[in-house]
Amino acid sequence: MKVATSTPQLRAMLAAERGKRRIVLVPTMGCLHEGHATLIREARKLGDLVVVSIYVNPLQFGPNEDFARYPRSFEADAGVCDEAGADVIFHPENLYPDGAPKVSLTVHGLSDVLCGASRPGHFDGVATVVNILFNAVGPDIAVFGEKDWQQLAIIRRMVADLHMPVEIVGVPTVREAGGLAMSSRNRYLDKQQLLTGRALHAALESMRLQALTGEHDAAVLLDAGKRVLAAAGISPEYLEIRVADSLESLTVLDGSPARAFVAARIGPARLIDNIPIARMTETPCISPC
Ligand code: PAF
Repeated sequence: MKVATSTPQLRAMLAAERGKRRIVLVPTMGCLHEGHATLIREARKLGDLVVVSIYVNPLQFGPNEDFARYPRSFEADAGVCDEAGADVIFHPENLYPDGAPKVSLTVHGLSDVLCGASRPGHFDGVATVVNILFNAVGPDIAVFGEKDWQQLAIIRRMVADLHMPVEIVGVPTVREAGGLAMSSRNRYLDKQQLLTGRALHAALESMRLQALTGEHDAAVLLDAGKRVLAAAGISPEYLEIRVADSLESLTVLDGSPARAFVAARIGPARLIDNIPIARMTETPCISPC
């Protein structure tokens, strides 16, 4: 496994491979866990040369967020990449050597809701750095986790709107036993907080199950989810049901692909999660029912 610490170095490494082997990029901010290892293994299956980028992107952190204390653990991360089958780590020191960029991307609409409502500028920072990473790596495919569904929806839209020649693949969320979505920020939590955090997934699951038994009114489903959160002492930043790709809000599950989303502060960490939520499948009634 090779490590590149600058864009020119990376480009030189990939030059001979371009066009011959399918390059798959797994963008990360490091502090890698089993969720990231799953993305890398998935990338391995999708292409021939797997590049993992590790870069804590200052542009996507707000002034009062955890950029300075975001865990950085390159040695351990390199071990995860190697074991999961990465070929190259792109670990740039600074992607903005001239300071904050004068030209960057702005996300409209999709970034005003869910996490974007409380993190202004966050998704502009994500779109800008992912665009830079795409330019540096030139991947055929890029793999992202579904845990950050809003990010995935925005990147898919960015690629479509800007005609970027890259295929985006989403990989389902990897969970701890008990349902908590794996996240680098879980490291901030103590044992009790990790247990409390399980309620996020439990709340989403309670909504999903109720929808499968025929309750399609979003307000009723959300009430069910809120009760699960309240029982764990969690008051969510948001708990919502939205259309999966457009992120428009839904009042009734109408059959279009939808997801339930939650964000909450658990102790020192702000955690997010989401799952697909579908209507009860109508099975034909043969006898009167
Ligand atoms: O999901 C992440 O880790 C980051 O938002 C990403 C996509 C690597 C951009 O910094």
